[in-house]
Amino acid sequence: MRTIAFFNNKGGVGKTTLVQHLAWMYAELGLSVVAADLDPQANLSAVLLDEDRLECLWPDGDHPDSVLGAVSPILRGLGDIRELHVEEIAPNLGLVVGDLGLSAFEAKLSSAWPDCLSRDESAFRIESVVSPHRSPRRRQAGRRPRSD
Ligand SMILES: Nc1ncnc2c1ncn2[C@@H]1O[C@H](COP(=O)(O)OP(=O)(O)O)[C@@H](O)[C@H]1O
Ligand SMILES: [Mg+2]
Repeated sequence: MRTIAFFNNKGGVGKTTLVQHLAWMYAELGLSVVAADLDPQANLSAVLLDEDRLECLWPDGDHPDSVLGAVSPILRGLGDIRELHVEEIAPNLGLVVGDLGLSAFEAKLSSAWPDCLSRDESAFRIESVVSPHRSPRRRQAGRRPRSD
């Protein structure tokens, strides 16, 4: 599996548009594509899903089928990331549905790395959400912080 991350601090530079076009292009070429909308603006989800479906996925209260639902155990300090729901958009094209509420996760993410350096075990769990393909050595470090 190949993972391509699209990131730019600046808004309005075409990230969402490019991701949408590439996702459709690769799917139509026959590759299995999962587009993961990790932007708290959730624009990719808004363009790939119609309003009725978004209303179902973003009800008042919990959102178990969005990325926010998947990270909610971490946000609440109750455990690790839940299995992600992948919404079928088209043959070969799935979407990890974004969520405006993901902005609540940003403070945790930004403090996780320095907390890892302070050997806070819960910070390794948070860091693993954004780095799921860590090397075995780092994964081990996430499980068992060194005691020295
Ligand atoms: N290649 C392009 N040429 C012209 N306009 C573009 C291009 N890519 C994106 N846009 C337009 O620029 C605006 C911002 O694009 P968007 O993909 O939402 O940016 P971002 O996700 O980085 O905030 C949108 O109005 C979009 O239609
Ligand atoms: Mg965008």
